Amino acid sequence: MSKMMKPKGHRPIIAPSILSADFAVLGDVLHRLEEAGADWVHMDVMDGHFVPNLTFGPPIIKALRSHSQLPFDVHLMIDNPERWIEAYRSAGADGITVHAEACVHLHRTLAQIRESGASVGVSLNPHTSLSTIEEILKEVDLILLMSVNPGFGGQSFIPSTIDKIGRLRALCQAQGVDPIIEVDGGVKESNIGMISTAGAHAFVAGSAVFGADDVTEAISNLRTHATVHQK
Ligand code: DX5
Ligand code: ZN
Repeated sequence: MSKMMKPKGHRPIIAPSILSADFAVLGDVLHRLEEAGADWVHMDVMDGHFVPNLTFGPPIIKALRSHSQLPFDVHLMIDNPERWIEAYRSAGADGITVHAEACVHLHRTLAQIRESGASVGVSLNPHTSLSTIEEILKEVDLILLMSVNPGFGGQSFIPSTIDKIGRLRALCQAQGVDPIIEVDGGVKESNIGMISTAGAHAFVAGSAVFGADDVTEAISNLRTHATVHQK
């Protein structure tokens, strides 16, 4: 049974991205995140092809698994993700999110993730229309809307994402489904309120968490702003 569920009472899900953490001490980072009250650990996997950057793969995730009880929210920014689903699941991924743009046979790849036992996620780049996932909405547990062009932490939130979140909520409602809507890129204390109001449930934050002096305070402030402005 996977652990990537919507918490009861509509508590916002705060998912710090370790992309902005110190890679030399990731084990310690995970312990710190758990103490600090993070809900998930967001893991940005990049292959240098789908996005112009490289990060880490299954061996690192496997090494980190014993350092945290938190769900691992694995965001695959890679080409041909269908080749790697099993590897990421065995390494310890609780949720696996693939990019619609990277999957020629998206429906099949989502079924593969389902089969692996992980929660099923699909992600869209800022320019990608919601219509690309209209036919597979019933197959997913989570939709990750990119609010920056993927590849790097510390970029600015693209404002048109707000409208996209609202349209995605409406599309889900029309189909009678209620997946977790997660937003990734440029999320910080100053904008998480409006992202929450627009209808997002889960919030990825890299630089806003690891660039702060106090990680616990940063997570708690993000959560407070998201809660106050919740739809
Ligand atoms: C971007 C990644 C994001 C990124 C978020 O390609 O998918 O998860 O790390 O970092 P911030 O919060 O700094 O934009
Ligand atoms: Zn991400």
